[in-house]
Amino acid sequence: MDTDSLNPELEALKLQALGCVKCDLSKSRTQVVFGEGYPYADILFIGEGPGYYEDVKGRPFVGRAGQLLDKILSACGFSRSENVYIANILKCRPPGNRDPLPGERELCMPYLMQQIELINPKIIILLGAVALKALIDPEAKITKVRGSWLEWKGRQVMPVYHPAALLRNQALKRDAWEDYKKVVYKYRELVDPDHHSAHV
Ligand code: URA
Repeated sequence: MDTDSLNPELEALKLQALGCVKCDLSKSRTQVVFGEGYPYADILFIGEGPGYYEDVKGRPFVGRAGQLLDKILSACGFSRSENVYIANILKCRPPGNRDPLPGERELCMPYLMQQIELINPKIIILLGAVALKALIDPEAKITKVRGSWLEWKGRQVMPVYHPAALLRNQALKRDAWEDYKKVVYKYRELVDPDHHSAHV
């Protein structure tokens, strides 16, 4: 369901982003992937940028990494429609899934910054190194800071491994699950003490 319309300012921003031609990715993209989820979500997940399937469907995290993310969300008792919003650093797919160029990132970040203001999440989860470096510190190392809470603009932020990294290296899954348990505990602390998760 498209629930963005429940938050008119977010909907207006989405319309603006859908027509964006600020960088060359607008020439190669199939669709802009603005983000989706509950428009006043208490948890915002931030990934890197659309891949092949996201570009085709216009939705974030719908490929293999997205299916894994959905499994993790479900194990935590979260869902895209009820308590989570998912966005990316880049709204358009870089050709061949290469890393975002600094110029692309700079032109695109204002959309994400406005999404954060308008959704106003208490908790932000950074999926992988690109999101960590773009939001917190270009020198930060995901292997060092994953699983720790950082305070950023009055919000609780946790960097975690990108789900694609968990698909590439199954050995990371154990640490990742420890991180997601902390996310559920923080959600109970800050948002809903009765939040139910079958596994945490
Ligand atoms: N990887 C990302 O970082 N974002 C997506 O939307 C899909 C895959």
